[in-house]
Amino acid sequence: MSSTYTSNLRIEKAATSKLKDVNFENIAFGKTFTDHMFMCDFVNGEWQQPQIMPYQPMTMQPSARVFHYGQAVFEGMKAYKDDDGKVFLFRPEENFKRINKSSARLAMPEFPKDYFFEGLTTLLNLDKDWIKPGVGNSLYIRPFAIAIDPAIAAAPGESYRFMIICAPAKAYYKGTVKVLIAEQFSRSANGGVGYAKAAGNYAAQFYPTNLAQQKGYQQVIWTDADTHTFLEEAGTMNVFFRINDTLITAPTSDRILDGVTRKSLIQLAEDNNIKCEVRPIKVNEIVEASKNGSLKEIFGAGTAAVISPIEGFEYQDTYYELPEIGAHSYSSMLKERMLNIQHNLAEDKHHWRYEIK
Ligand code: COI
Repeated sequence: MSSTYTSNLRIEKAATSKLKDVNFENIAFGKTFTDHMFMCDFVNGEWQQPQIMPYQPMTMQPSARVFHYGQAVFEGMKAYKDDDGKVFLFRPEENFKRINKSSARLAMPEFPKDYFFEGLTTLLNLDKDWIKPGVGNSLYIRPFAIAIDPAIAAAPGESYRFMIICAPAKAYYKGTVKVLIAEQFSRSANGGVGYAKAAGNYAAQFYPTNLAQQKGYQQVIWTDADTHTFLEEAGTMNVFFRINDTLITAPTSDRILDGVTRKSLIQLAEDNNIKCEVRPIKVNEIVEASKNGSLKEIFGAGTAAVISPIEGFEYQDTYYELPEIGAHSYSSMLKERMLNIQHNLAEDKHHWRYEIK
């Protein structure tokens, strides 16, 4: 291994690459990681020297606060490679802003922008052979921050670690999914942390999602915690409904994540003359629309899955199936337009692509 410094970033390269052992044709989401990782600690009120090092296990005290109180936030981003070998991120500034918004809500220190972008760029340049060209291939990037001080008082920590790890990715969900509309459980509440990518938001979904899976549903559509009458998110994604030719998605709030894919799809809908209403939407509205045939599509939208079409939903013990819409589906049209922008195959009129140089 060799150690070098570029500006403030210390780089220790892996002696050998694991790349040759990876079967890219058959890759499970988030289980295989690239050769390097980025790490930077916050100690004594300051971010220390950032480092890139071989991907490896790390040791921490059992008392580290993250283990006890879940003081942890994360992001999901992707890198894409075009046929000329150029590597692009998609709206990375949005992820950077959001991880700091999440950190602020969890009483964690904000991460410096120059460290984030220098770390990310250097990491992607080191591991760029892990990014395969072609639509359907990407590198999922997971920045995250955790409280590491060895102290179990229930109070914000003084030491934190910011990391970035990367995993080559194909599709997150295969095909369409069936969902259960939540009538008892919630993922977020007014004044809570639902808008943040706080680790605990996701862990809290596992149990209700397991129950839904036992009933034959892959995901839960989350409703508002007070009344369970408003539709908010789908699984780990934002959610869109198409009634006749209008798309509808819930407004962001302190309960709903301000998804990068969500806001990009709202813009793409407008660019493609599709009416998109951002407003509260009631469960009863989609039940009625399903009964009268005007509910055409439901889909989840997030970084990992991009767009995940939903084939039907259960509410109050009744299953509602969505019609086969085939070539006229907004979800496949918008997904294609989005992927083409991400992969440098289409004009990027909103300047969403960020080339890694
Ligand atoms: C993403 O789409 O980036 C997510 O946050 C999903 C993740 C929990 C796998």
